[in-house]
Amino acid sequence: MREVVLNEPGDFAEWRNAARGLLASGVAPEDVSWRGSAEGASLFGDEAVVAPAGAVSLPRELLEIAKRVICHRDAEVPARLYRIIWRAARDRQLLARATDAEVNWLRKADKAIRRDVHKMHAFVRFRRLGEEAGRESFAAWFEPSHRILRLTAPFFQRRFTGMDWAIVTPDARAIWKGETLVYGPGGTKDDVPDSDVIEDQWRTYYGAIFNPARVKIDAMRAEMPKKYWNNLPEAQDIAPLLAGAGARVERMREAAVSLANPLTDKWRTRVPDELAPDDDVKTLGELARAVDRCTRCPLYCNATQGVAGEGPKTARIMLVGEQPGDQEDLQGRPFVGPAGQVLDEALEEAGLDRTRLFLTNAVKHFKFEPRGKRRLHQNPTSAEIDICRWWLDKERALVQPDLIVTLGASALRGVTGRSASIRSMRGAVHELEGGSKLIATIHPSFLLRMPDRERAAEERKAFVADLIRARKLAA
Ligand code: URA
Repeated sequence: MREVVLNEPGDFAEWRNAARGLLASGVAPEDVSWRGSAEGASLFGDEAVVAPAGAVSLPRELLEIAKRVICHRDAEVPARLYRIIWRAARDRQLLARATDAEVNWLRKADKAIRRDVHKMHAFVRFRRLGEEAGRESFAAWFEPSHRILRLTAPFFQRRFTGMDWAIVTPDARAIWKGETLVYGPGGTKDDVPDSDVIEDQWRTYYGAIFNPARVKIDAMRAEMPKKYWNNLPEAQDIAPLLAGAGARVERMREAAVSLANPLTDKWRTRVPDELAPDDDVKTLGELARAVDRCTRCPLYCNATQGVAGEGPKTARIMLVGEQPGDQEDLQGRPFVGPAGQVLDEALEEAGLDRTRLFLTNAVKHFKFEPRGKRRLHQNPTSAEIDICRWWLDKERALVQPDLIVTLGASALRGVTGRSASIRSMRGAVHELEGGSKLIATIHPSFLLRMPDRERAAEERKAFVADLIRARKLAA
């Protein structure tokens, strides 16, 4: 009997190395006993498992699933996974056998992990710790059902590149200080402060999006299980909001008689406050909060939040889009919707790493027209772009990129202050006041709107070529 002791339960690389060695040596699942190091014994028992050359090949999909399922808390998982890969090495169609009990178990376990990952992405709440050398730092405590920190941390790295943070879970912690993700031992809730000013923002946001007419308590509990409530600042408002829901629905009903569309009415009656004072923002974090408070033009009235740029302060390339879209408005991050997907793919093809770029928009609030339940994008006017240049200029001053790439005509106006056609500016490198260079290209959503596939493919190629030129220039 071979005994494999895993030092880090949930660590895919450790399990894979052992499993590969066993598989290549022809050790059958029934001849292996898998244990966690807490149960004692040396790493590979009496016979070390070394992956020999010419390792057995396995379906890629299975490895992808195994990478997730190894994070499952069930102590039997390493053994079950080994049994499955043992069989898959002999039966390439194994994963397609939906009635197979082990495949069935694998799919269910995978679903549980993916659900846990989704919950962690949604329910981690950072508390501000302070600021050092111009970088703000945050920490969050989270108790996932499984050992999924390594699966989820890269998401937070992409999302919060510009700040320092730590996420502490009972099993492990992830730490990001702007360069590499580092993992350390688990901790306790006491490692993280339990409240701060950001909580107020969550509570305000939750109160604003809470729709008393659409309360479905069971669905709510399923989506936001009670076990997460302790760490969610907004959760303390759920009970009072629910208690007042009946009265709010009544008020909405009465108001509906005179309001054809509450959104358009709000648009007409709310006027911008006085211009905001010249917020003296010194960090990207301060800037993001100031953008969210911005009332310099009426666009703030209907948007969920102001969406500031995202990326490291040290970025050499700044990409400027037009304005947040529907998804960006909800998530508070630039380029996370369909246009963002097109952009991500083009960046990858051009060899540009999104996490090293600073992505922002000429206009920081979503401008849309309500159409039933949908919000249809509207182009910002020149005046709106010009007013919002206030923020773009501040981002430029803080990041000081060597190169700015404008995506579309609104971005070009936002950066240069004048209207010019992309065609007249494309293909050349322009000098901007203050020393940055400028490359003008199309907006990725232009590719999404093109009905002619061949032309779209050509345009896409030219778009990628512009991004490659940007990469070379910045290098
Ligand atoms: N379009 C943009 O211009 N910016 C975004 O952030 C998203 C879509």
